Amino acid sequence: VIKMTDLDLAGKRVFIRADLNVPVKDGKVTSDARILASLPTIQRCLEAGAKVMVTSHLGRPTEGEYAEEFSLQPVVNYLNDALDCDVKLAKDYLDGLELNAGELVVLENVRFNKGEKKNEDELSKKYAALCDVFVMDAFGTAHRAQASTYGVGMFAPIACAGPLLAGELEALGKVMDNPARPMVAIVGGSKVSTKLTVLESLSKIADQIVVGGGIANTFIAAEGNDVGKSLYEADLIPTAKALMAHTDIPVATDVVCAKEFSDSAEATIKAATDIAADDMVLDLGPDSAQALADIIMNAKTILWNGPVGVFEIEQFGKGTEVVANAIAASAGFSVAGGGDTLAAIDKYGIKDKVSYISTGGGAFLEFVEGNKLPAVEMLEARAKA
Ligand code: 3PG
Repeated sequence: VIKMTDLDLAGKRVFIRADLNVPVKDGKVTSDARILASLPTIQRCLEAGAKVMVTSHLGRPTEGEYAEEFSLQPVVNYLNDALDCDVKLAKDYLDGLELNAGELVVLENVRFNKGEKKNEDELSKKYAALCDVFVMDAFGTAHRAQASTYGVGMFAPIACAGPLLAGELEALGKVMDNPARPMVAIVGGSKVSTKLTVLESLSKIADQIVVGGGIANTFIAAEGNDVGKSLYEADLIPTAKALMAHTDIPVATDVVCAKEFSDSAEATIKAATDIAADDMVLDLGPDSAQALADIIMNAKTILWNGPVGVFEIEQFGKGTEVVANAIAASAGFSVAGGGDTLAAIDKYGIKDKVSYISTGGGAFLEFVEGNKLPAVEMLEARAKA
């Protein structure tokens, strides 16, 4: 693909599609990770003397309708504090926009535009007419073929990959394409069914897969244990067995149980063979967590998606904490991604110790599943044309 960093942007009208889909509460951005990750791209364009437009979606508004709660205004306020230039929000921009070199304008939520999600050509052409260069930098939305992530790139004079997108593809590619071994993948989350394609894809690449959360319970059950009232999927036991036959998936030998799912519930450590009918497994036990930490410490490549226990509740967070600290302490190349994973990284303060933290949620999972991201395919097609 063509890279933004290889282009001369001086005086050019540059349209950056970023993923600034950040959580907002009471008009304020509550997690700035995605904005921070997008800033270098924006700054680079400004420094190059481009006329810079940056846009994103925010949330899932009813398409074609303005709704204040989904406005990018809080992001604009954030940018005004973070950058030393005056950042404006443009609400009406589809029929053209006047901009000076070195100026930055945020184009209001693309999902307020009719045709965005359906990738309609009419809208894509309007975006394309705004710019000389289209910069696709929204890794987090690269799995969506929409007008601002895909269509615009087909019609813009030049379509290129922004530094954030390029960096994501490089880091994730390093893990998935030819990882230094041993490679260990940590897959947490509540259900095997929602992570099945992720597990299947990783079973072909990873030397070991560490499972956690509700996913682990199905594997514990597959070993012939009773998992009581725990969240698990009985119908996926054969699938879990097939995965274990193919790949080394260490199953927990001890677990943390409770009689109820609540923050005041009493946590009890039990052997995986001793889970009672009224028990719920809510975390890995200390022996299992330590065994997994040893595997992680020895790995040369680590991919982390999903907490291994109910880490939001203190007494069920130890497993995730041990895993997080092992990732932080490991000398291997580590990549983490997917919503809850970032919350765990924040909670255990290991942000600076993970080699690469992806800005993608769904896009990260699609990449790990081995799927081609439409926006990347578009950039590849344009690079060939
Ligand atoms: C995300 O948060 O995963 C991306 O911004 C994509 O959002 P979407 O699922 O609403 O398309």
